[in-house]
Amino acid sequence: MSAKGRVKCPKKQLPCLHGQMIIRVLDERSDPGPLPLGFGALPGNSGESKELEEAAAVLARADDDSGLCPTLEDIADMETRIIQIKPDCREWKLQEEAALREAGEVIRQGGLVAFPTETVYGLGGDALNPQASCKIYAAKGRPSDNPLIIHICQFEDIYRIVKQVPETAVKIAEAFWPGPLTVILPKAELVPYETTGGLDTVAVRFPSHPVAKKLIEYGGGYVAAPSANASGRPSPTLAKHVAEDMSGRIDMIVDGGEVGIGLESTIVDLTAEVPRILRPGYITQGMLNKVFGKVDIDVTIIKPDSGQPPKAPGMKYRHYAPTGRLVIVEGEAGQVTAYINEQTAKDRNAGEKTGVIGTAEVLEQYHADVVKCVGSRENEEDIARNLFTVLREFDEEKVTSIYSESFSSEGLGQAIMNRLLKAAGHSVIRL
Ligand code: TXA
Ligand code: MG
Repeated sequence: MSAKGRVKCPKKQLPCLHGQMIIRVLDERSDPGPLPLGFGALPGNSGESKELEEAAAVLARADDDSGLCPTLEDIADMETRIIQIKPDCREWKLQEEAALREAGEVIRQGGLVAFPTETVYGLGGDALNPQASCKIYAAKGRPSDNPLIIHICQFEDIYRIVKQVPETAVKIAEAFWPGPLTVILPKAELVPYETTGGLDTVAVRFPSHPVAKKLIEYGGGYVAAPSANASGRPSPTLAKHVAEDMSGRIDMIVDGGEVGIGLESTIVDLTAEVPRILRPGYITQGMLNKVFGKVDIDVTIIKPDSGQPPKAPGMKYRHYAPTGRLVIVEGEAGQVTAYINEQTAKDRNAGEKTGVIGTAEVLEQYHADVVKCVGSRENEEDIARNLFTVLREFDEEKVTSIYSESFSSEGLGQAIMNRLLKAAGHSVIRL
C-alpha cells in the first residue's frame, strides 16, 4: 500500500477501521485490486512524494489512536437479538410497532440492525453517524472503499443528503420509488465520507418493504445498509442467512421472512447527462429505457473482460462465491445436461462432492450428489429469488464441485447472469 507515488492522504481525513485512514490511491492506470480492511482506493492523478509523506504521517498517527473507529474485535461477541415481524403491516399490532420502535432506537444510538427489504436483507446503521458506518464495514469485513447505500422512507428526505436533485431523479422516483432501485447523485455536506467510502457522490434508495420503511423512519430517516452478508458471501434472502454471517457482530436482526425479489437493487448513476446502470437488478434496462428514452449501461456489466474498473466500487470484488468451484455451462439444453453429467461423474471419481444448479424442466436428468432446483425457466422471478439461497446451500452441504445451467441475459436475466458470473469467477464452458 505504500508503493511510491501511489498514495495520498485526502483533505477530508477519514477515521476508519482499525483507527487507520481511508487513503486515496492516485495512480489511475494501475488497479490496486482488493485492499486490506481499513483502506480505500479512489482514482486520481499521479501522487507526489510530499503527499506520500503526509499519508504515512496520518497513518502513523492513526495507529497510535486506535480508539478512532470500532474494529471487529470491538464488536465481536456481542449478543444479537432476533425479533420476528410479519412482513405485511396490516397484520401488525402494538407489539410489532413497539419492537420496530426499539430497533429504530438501536440505530439512533449508533447500533446495527439487520432488516428485510424487498430485494435482500440489509445491515442498517445511522448513515449520518461516521462511527456507525465504520461498524458496518467492520461487521461485514468489507473494504472501506466500497460505499454504502443510504435508505430513506420518503422522497423529500433526499434533499438533505444530495447536493442538487436533478429532474432525472424526480422522474425515476416517480416511476420506481418506493422500490428496488438506487440512484447515485452528488452528496451533500451532511453525509459523512465514511458512508460514501470517500466519494463525493452518494447512493440513495427508497425501499418498498413495510418493515424497512418503518425501521428507517424510527431509525432517524437515513439508514446506511449494505446487504447483510459477510463480505464476499451471497446476499441474505432469509433472516437465517443473516444470523449465519452476523451473529455476535450486530445488535439485532429483524426477521420479516423471505424477501420478495432476492437480488439487490438496480443501481443507476444520475451524475452524467444520460443515466447509466452500474448494477443490473429487478428494474431492467428496458423498464428504464421507457422512462428516459435511453439509458447507458456500465461496460463491465456487458463485457466483464473489458479490463476497465466498474463504476460501482463494490462490483469489482469477487462476490457470492460458494466455497466449492462453480462453472457455468452454456449451450443447447440436451447438450448441457449431458456435459454436466459427464463432468460430475469424472469429478466424483476424483473424490469431489458434486453439485448442480438446474432448472425444474430438466432437474431429474442430473446425477450429481447434490442437485438444487433454482426454479423454472418459465418464471425468471423464481430463479432470481432462489439463486442466493441455493448458492449458500452448497456450502452447508460441503459441495466441492458445482455446475450451473446458464440463463438468458435479457430483462431480469441480465441481473441473474451478472450475479451467477461473479459467483463463478466468470468460469464459463460454451458448448
Ligand atoms: O438492494 C440493495 O441495494 C441492498 C438492500 C439492503 O438495499 N443493498 C445493497 O448494498 O446491495 P451493497 O452495499 O451490498 O451494495 C451497494 C453497491 C456497491 O456495489 C457499492 O459499490 C455501490 O452500491 N455504491 C454505493 N455508493 C456508490 C457511489 N456513490 N457510487 C457508485 N457506486 C456506489
Ligand atoms: Mg452486497
